[in-house]
Amino acid sequence: MSTHLGAAPGAVSPRVLLPGDPRRAQWIAETFLDEAECYSTVRNMLGFTGSYRGVPVSVQGSGMGQPSAAIYVTELFTEYDVQQVVRVGTCGALSEDLALRDVVLAISAATDASTNRLRFEGLDFCPPADFALLQAAHDAAVGRDRPVSVGQVFSTDSFYNDRSDLTWRLAEYGVLAVEMETNALYTLAAKHTRSALTICTVSDHIKTGEQTTADEREKTFGDMVELALDAMLAVPL
Ligand code: HPA
Repeated sequence: MSTHLGAAPGAVSPRVLLPGDPRRAQWIAETFLDEAECYSTVRNMLGFTGSYRGVPVSVQGSGMGQPSAAIYVTELFTEYDVQQVVRVGTCGALSEDLALRDVVLAISAATDASTNRLRFEGLDFCPPADFALLQAAHDAAVGRDRPVSVGQVFSTDSFYNDRSDLTWRLAEYGVLAVEMETNALYTLAAKHTRSALTICTVSDHIKTGEQTTADEREKTFGDMVELALDAMLAVPL
């Protein structure tokens, strides 16, 4: 049992889906996994293990933002020997080429967090997605006729950001969308030599102000979870 996860040793699968919202974790477990059992309710940050097509898979809520996600991801890697983490979340579109409900595969993540500046004593670290997971997710999307965009996201620590001008500067350099977890997830995967990928659906468009409805979010979320599960199972541990 780790500090923030109440799971017994061996209760978490080597493959973990990581939604931010613990209720989404429960919905994924109930909708997609066979014989899912809850392994942690600590702070209501629910985690479940079940199986998908006969393969053990866990799903763990991460909370919002990098400090929260980093706690759960660190414990998954160091206390439960998790090998693959696929974040399934939402993002705000910056690129005009993206529409609501589009799916983004994050190849890397810029950030306004100072964590890596401190970790690397002023150097900038560019945290990458795992190529095998990225390729498998892309193949799964093409196979399902679901268009996806592959590119960089911006992991901000401030949902309510005073410097939107800097967000738009990142957009000028091709950053597709803004979310709040990926830079920390990819950095921790690099540190612990594990595999990670973020798959996000566009829940809102920062430029146009459009937003998805709750129904649309649920449907799109389900499509994305299927992509994530296909990708994880396609990549050997
Ligand atoms: N900002 C940060 N994270 C997000 C957003 C946003 O606008 N939309 C969905 N996740």
